Parts: sequence; structure tokens; C-alpha cells
Amino acid sequence: MRKRKLLHSIVRLITGYACGLMLHYLVFSTKPKVCNEIRSDVLIRGGQRNEVERHSSTIPHHSNIYIGMMSAEKFLNNRVQRAVDTWLQKGGWKIEVFADATPDQLKVPVGLDFNIVTLRSVDDSAYPPQKKCFMMIRHMYDHHIYNYDWFMRLDDDVYVDFPRMEQLLNTINSSMPIFFGTPGFGMDPDDGIEDGMYYLMGGPGMIFSRGLLLQLRAHMSHCIQHMFSPHEDVEIGRCVWKHVKNAKIPIAWETIDFFYQQYDKTTGDVTNVDLSDT
Ligand SMILES: *[C@@H]1O[C@H](CO)[C@@H](O)[C@H](O)[C@H]1NC(C)=O
Repeated sequence: MRKRKLLHSIVRLITGYACGLMLHYLVFSTKPKVCNEIRSDVLIRGGQRNEVERHSSTIPHHSNIYIGMMSAEKFLNNRVQRAVDTWLQKGGWKIEVFADATPDQLKVPVGLDFNIVTLRSVDDSAYPPQKKCFMMIRHMYDHHIYNYDWFMRLDDDVYVDFPRMEQLLNTINSSMPIFFGTPGFGMDPDDGIEDGMYYLMGGPGMIFSRGLLLQLRAHMSHCIQHMFSPHEDVEIGRCVWKHVKNAKIPIAWETIDFFYQQYDKTTGDVTNVDLSDT
């Protein structure tokens, strides 16, 4: 009986160790990966199945901007579809929506570079989505770092004034480590905001230059393991502030003016302006 117990513990120990190793590999592997349709930790699905017409017949030229949109399955056919119906289809960027969902229910305009990415090691509906955000940034780096100059991490309920955004970004050298968005000044006592630290608010979106991601990537697994607060934006901000000392974080009030978000505090509804009605 004791022997069996011992054997049992050993088996459990070994299985535990193997699972730990596997998890470690899935979460913290830093090897650049070849982009396949299906890999062990991500599933990438194209959204071109239900093609619909664009509002404008011209497909915009290929841009140097990558958009990573944080979403979840339940928001696909409302928030994400609205964004696709409006501002998202106006740029020639690459769009990846992070959700555990199939794109079948979406209607995506012809020629839009659009994928759904499922991060298999992340709980799709977990909130706050700290791990999802870190894993998403890791994904941006591992798959696309040399294909785009600017990497935007956006919520699915945001509306971007893209001509202004594009114009602004193209005046900045993306080799510099730039972290761009709306600086957050609000803080809870338990956020662990350190002296001189700025973070950018997740709601209106954060923009990373390629120069910033190149420096940040090596530190991401450390940051995932050393989170102080439950706030995803604060933790990303902390990661940048701690590990990329030469990062440039514009904190002019003007930056707030570059983002729009319409949010009804009483009902929690988010309204996007549907351009097809106007
Ligand atoms: C952009 O910045 C990088 C690094 O600071 C520099 O090597 C490069 O010459 C700059 N490019 C332009 C067009 O200024």
C-alpha cells in the first residue's frame, strides 16, 4: 500500500513537472516562430468567408500599422462587426482580433487583411485580461515585428480617427522606443504606481513602436510573473517603465484628443457611429 502511494506520488510529481514544463514553454517561450495556420499556442483564422462590399470601392494601400483588437467571443457579432462596418475597413492595415471564436459569423469587406487569433493558453473571458494583453503583444512581436512599424493594442469598442492617427504616426521615427496613448493619472492605492511612472489607459488604446517592442519582448515573461495590480494597462505601463529606460511616453494633454470612445456609463452601452447610415 505504501509502495503504491509512493509510486503514485512519483507519477504525480513527474506529470506535474511535465505539465509545468509544457506550460512554461507555451507561456514563456521566446523562440521566434514560423507562422503556420495552426500552431500549438495560437489558432489563426481568416475572416474572408462572408465577404461584403466596402463603403468605398477602393481598397486602401497597404499600411505600416498593425491593429491588435482585444475582444471575446460574445463581442464578435456586435462590437467587432460594428468596427468592421465603420472605421476598421478604411485603412490598409493588418487587423487581428483576439477572441476564442470563429470568423464565420462576421461579415468582412473584400480585401481587408483580417484574422481572428485565438490564444489557446488564455481564458477568453477572463477579466481583467492581463495575461491576454501580454500574450497578444508577444504574438504581435513573434509574428509581425518586421512587417509593421506601429502596433496598436485596441479594445473592440474604440473608434479611431484613423487619418489623423496615420498622419501623426508617420511623422515619428518608429525605430525609437515610443509608447503612445492616453496617459492614465487615476490610480488606486494598491496599483503600486511608482514614482515617475506613467502608464497608458487601456480603454482608448496603446500604440507601440517597433523600436519599443524590440526592447520590450525580452522582458515580457518577467513582467507576466511580476504583476502588482489587477489592471492590465498599469502592468503593461510598468513593464515599459521598468525595462525600457529610454522609452518615450508622450504625456501632453493633446494625446487625449487623438482617441475617441463613446461609452454610456449608465447603461454600459457602447455606440459606434455607423457610417453606412449617413
Ligand atoms: C530613425 O531612428 C534610428 C535609431 O535612432 C536611426 O538609426 C535612423 O537613422 C532614424 N531614421 C530616420 C529616417 O531618421
